Amino acid sequence: MSRRPLVAGNWKMFKTRAEARAFAETLAVNLAQADGVELAICPPFTSIDVVAMILQGTGVGVFRQTGHESENGAHTGEVSMGMLADAGASGVLLGHSERRADCAETDQALARKVPAALAAGLTPVLCVGESEFERDSGSTKAILDVQVREGLSGVPKDRLGDVVVAYEPIWAIGTGKIATAQEISQMANFIKEFVSKNFSNIAEFYLLYGGSVSSKNSAEILQIANIDGLLVGGASLDANEFIAIANS
Ligand code: PGA
Repeated sequence: MSRRPLVAGNWKMFKTRAEARAFAETLAVNLAQADGVELAICPPFTSIDVVAMILQGTGVGVFRQTGHESENGAHTGEVSMGMLADAGASGVLLGHSERRADCAETDQALARKVPAALAAGLTPVLCVGESEFERDSGSTKAILDVQVREGLSGVPKDRLGDVVVAYEPIWAIGTGKIATAQEISQMANFIKEFVSKNFSNIAEFYLLYGGSVSSKNSAEILQIANIDGLLVGGASLDANEFIAIANS
């Protein structure tokens, strides 16, 4: 790829504000080591402002892990895309498999959330991926077809390049089981070709891989054609490990 790869760290439901601050401070002083990569951190909502404040002006993105599609309204407990931008976020993960499973984040809702994020000036990261059962039954491409088609269905053509898609096989998330380079490459090509055929002639969006990424395998995954970056979960909780991945 010719562009700078994007390495995003998804902290999930980990870190207090003090821990988030310490991480961001370590990252800020070590940024020179991650030259040539775009970085983003996805802290829990409570730490977005503190991470955004410390990393202000560094170019590191601060993404939330979900967001509501409405601008405002009677949605107790929810946070809109505009509110996220107001709190200092520059992007948002959407459709992470844990949100799809725990909070019924459906493809239909994602079809509204992705354009809502764009409209609020956030970079949406649409997460897609098959379960172990779906993989074993040979339906990976059919699953990705639906998730990508629905998730991108509300995106204006001229904004497609502003969307990031993350391919995260569910069976590889937090399990230490990593998809082989061949599996990643096959699905990356499938997604890029699918988007290019159905949405735009130029598949110019970033495609990330996620699922048990660490500094041990990151360099190899980044070599795969059509993979433009990484979405890192567990290994992104340690600042030095995250910097090592960015450095790879
Ligand atoms: P993992 O998580 O790196 O811990 O497997 C990835 C993710 O859920 O985004």
